[in-house]
Amino acid sequence: MTCILLLGGTTEASRMARALAEAGLAAEFSYAGRTEAPVAQPLPTRVGGFGGVAGLVDYLRARGISHLIDATHPFAAQMSRNAIAACAETGTALIGLERPAWAAQPGDRWTHVADIAGAVAALPEARARVFLAIGKQTLAPFVARPQHHYLLRLVDPPEGALPLPDAAAVIARGPFDLAGDTALLRDHAITHVVAKNAGGAGASAKLEAARALGLPVILIDRPRLPPRQVSATVEGVMGWLAGHTAPSTERGV
Ligand SMILES: NC(=O)c1ccc[n+]([C@@H]2O[C@H](COP(=O)([O-])OP(=O)(O)OC[C@H]3O[C@@H](n4cnc5c(N)ncnc54)[C@H](OP(=O)(O)O)[C@@H]3O)[C@@H](O)[C@H]2O)c1
Repeated sequence: MTCILLLGGTTEASRMARALAEAGLAAEFSYAGRTEAPVAQPLPTRVGGFGGVAGLVDYLRARGISHLIDATHPFAAQMSRNAIAACAETGTALIGLERPAWAAQPGDRWTHVADIAGAVAALPEARARVFLAIGKQTLAPFVARPQHHYLLRLVDPPEGALPLPDAAAVIARGPFDLAGDTALLRDHAITHVVAKNAGGAGASAKLEAARALGLPVILIDRPRLPPRQVSATVEGVMGWLAGHTAPSTERGV
């Protein structure tokens, strides 16, 4: 019997949840619990970590999960690695719902870096005004470049002082659009954008705005994952579940 666990936390995961609910499939949705008021889902929802690979193995067995759909963010690599390991151990079918990475277009001024440390190193020496569009969890390394002003965009207001000496935060939840992000970059006199190559439509407006304004972007590459089946679309995952179509790719990220 099909019993699905959907790992969420992205716009695509919410679309996947709607498709599963509309199809009447037995499925549950899992949030990490990072945001205070996560988007409500049309599926039974649990919140919080499983306790590493061992905890996820126990969970899959206890709940009789037959299929796991990993629709976490492309930078949620720990969760994705745990899912690969736990599914291999339990024989659970696994697919990643994985949006294609963004690719540069004419007019883009992108510097590609491998990770957060690379982004810190790629910032200029002279004082700059940086839109740091990387969430709240990996801000600390930018302390090494205290001469810059940093603009953050966060889902929830910060609980304490920001870890950077000269920083401001705007509180907003995507999806974002070109007009709004162009105004944001202009209003804050931003000179550099730092972003993760998340892919998808919901967060691409900042890159379009940077292109329109001629601003340089430091773009952090996705973390690599072990090989797994992936689909770029909700429809592809539904086909995989139905056993009608096999996803066309099997690769790491
Ligand atoms: N990283 C980003 O840039 C980013 C951006 C937007 C949204 N998100 C979303 O935010 C959440 C956390 O991301 P992260 O980068 O902190 O992940 P991560 O570093 O890969 O995961 C750290 C731990 O958080 C728990 N976890 C993560 N996703 C979970 C889920 N959907 N359900 C239950 N537990 C989960 C797991 O704990 P245990 O080991 O205890 O199981 C995992 O080992 C994810 O749902 C992700 O989709 C992340």
